[in-house]
Amino acid sequence: MKSAAKTLSDRERRRLLTLARKSMKQAHAPYSNFRVGAALLTTKGEIFSGCNVENASYGMTNCAERTAIFTAVAELGSKMEIRAIAVTNAQGVPCSPCGACRQVIFEFGPDATVVFQSAKGWTESHITELLPEGFRLK
Ligand code: THU
Repeated sequence: MKSAAKTLSDRERRRLLTLARKSMKQAHAPYSNFRVGAALLTTKGEIFSGCNVENASYGMTNCAERTAIFTAVAELGSKMEIRAIAVTNAQGVPCSPCGACRQVIFEFGPDATVVFQSAKGWTESHITELLPEGFRLK
């Protein structure tokens, strides 16, 4: 694995990827047929997962990463901090978080490690590598 931010143990990474793949099976993706799963680890060790949820009104679609993050916030509150988030897809093709998800990851994980499949294979990147100059209010 290519690694820019090696803060995850092999065990933690495997667990996140396993849970992301499990959640991916729940995806509601009848329009794109592109099923995505995500799983995140908080700085306190809690784990949450999510899948993409599409809608006939395409713009209403929620990506897997945001489903996982919003689930974590709903459960733990907004002080929850993401230590790492992993993304999988059923096609096994490169899939890094979209721009909107990068901004949401940054909101709750300014020091987060993102595990995803890039064109060069499985990669770990710091969120600020994926989103330089992320927006912050204040
Ligand atoms: N999608 C995600 O859930 N996460 C990503 O990182 C990339 C894209 C979803 C959105 C949509 O349901 C489908 O993949 C095709 O874009």
